[in-house]
Amino acid sequence: MRYLYQDLERELIAGINSGHIPVGMKLPSIRQQCEERKISKATVIHAYQRLEASGLVEVRAKSGYFVCSRKMQHPVPSTQQTISAPRLVDMSDVMRDIMAQSAAFDISPQIDQRSDIPIGITELNRSLSRALRRQRGAEHQYYDEPAGLLPLRRQICNRYQRFGCNFNENEVIVTAGCQHALSLALQLCCKPGDIVAVESPGFYGVLQLLESMGLQVLEIPVTAEHGISVDGLSDVLEKWKIAACVVTPSFATPIGGAIPEESRQRLLQLAEKFDFKIVEDDIYGDLSFGHRIPPLKQLDKNNRVILCGSFSKSLSRELRLGWVVSSTGQKALMRLKMVNMLALSRYTQQGLSDFLEDGGYDKHIRKQKVLLRQQREQLVDLLSRHWQHLGAIRISQPEGGLTLWVELDPKINVADSYLKARAEGIIITPGNLFTAQLQYQHCLRLSFAHPWNDRRQMALIKLGEILAAQI
Ligand SMILES: Cc1ncc(COP(=O)(O)O)c(C=O)c1O
Repeated sequence: MRYLYQDLERELIAGINSGHIPVGMKLPSIRQQCEERKISKATVIHAYQRLEASGLVEVRAKSGYFVCSRKMQHPVPSTQQTISAPRLVDMSDVMRDIMAQSAAFDISPQIDQRSDIPIGITELNRSLSRALRRQRGAEHQYYDEPAGLLPLRRQICNRYQRFGCNFNENEVIVTAGCQHALSLALQLCCKPGDIVAVESPGFYGVLQLLESMGLQVLEIPVTAEHGISVDGLSDVLEKWKIAACVVTPSFATPIGGAIPEESRQRLLQLAEKFDFKIVEDDIYGDLSFGHRIPPLKQLDKNNRVILCGSFSKSLSRELRLGWVVSSTGQKALMRLKMVNMLALSRYTQQGLSDFLEDGGYDKHIRKQKVLLRQQREQLVDLLSRHWQHLGAIRISQPEGGLTLWVELDPKINVADSYLKARAEGIIITPGNLFTAQLQYQHCLRLSFAHPWNDRRQMALIKLGEILAAQI
């Protein structure tokens, strides 16, 4: 005897296995299935529950049933655990070219003029236009206030208060993005020659800053499970005096790890004991697929943490708006900002502030998180299906952010394939970009910031072939 739920179950399994129902996709709702197939609710629920039990789909609270990625096939990457002596940073010109090309986080960068503008961005644009139309008298002949527009500082503050931080708007300085915020924070707490601990592999923008400021880098390993190794840092602090530690506690690029709660407390204790500042990069904080993890700043009782962030990853890179927060260093930071760039655009700040106040940002983030999680799962699935000829690969599967880290066969040098890939219009970020030492040559960062349309899927498949030619 054949039951109706079996037909539905078989059909869905076939769709999932063939890729017609891709990883990350939401299955039609129970009501939709009942109406379209003229079957009972119990039949649909039975089929969905069986798919869930088999691990093909998962339930997400208040959202429905989603096709799962086949996680268990890939072990997580294993970064080196030995810590080398501090050194000055020397990024090569080739690396600079790679940085310039890949800043877009897109394997096949081509701005599609016909693609739909997301609703959140359309609403943001409306807020920006309204702010521009509200221009008064001779405003255009005056600079914005040095700390940044007060309503925007208030909004940034309000957001962080929701996550347990208790600083006020006078401690917030609006910056031209997060890179600017990091630069001001490092200028505040370091002088040339000082040692700065960073994540390894870690954000190349920080390495560039250290290079330009004549600071020494001390690379501390990061794992996909636990973010920066607080134990590793602790082991070397007696030996080397550091002025600061730059850390992205939630979903650090490229691996996407997040520091567990206990280690966060320990990091702050170390900062106290060994008298250094923590420069917290919270740029991916709002892009957690689950609950928002509070920033380190929330635990900061003694002003050890200088909090940096921006709206570049969560909303728009075009805004060029971010923040740096320090209770004790606020005045010094403001002076540094004035020397650097005088002021920012009042209209952009006002438009963004209105967008935050109207709840547009929260709405946008809620949608963005669902989309990004889906795109991450699709990426892992594509790699499982199309990069098999590269042998056993290790993949990090972060629960937030925009990127994951792939470790390939040690025989492969990803940077060696850079020009070949570029000739095909494929832009890659090789592993050695994320370190000042000679390491991670067989690794690369892949981003899931963009939808996996045909063009990007083809680029990923082609890249697999280019890399495989090295084995
Ligand atoms: C970890 C991290 N921090 C800071 C930045 C720079 O951000 P912004 O564009 O806001 O300057 C980036 C950009 O890629 C990043 O990945």
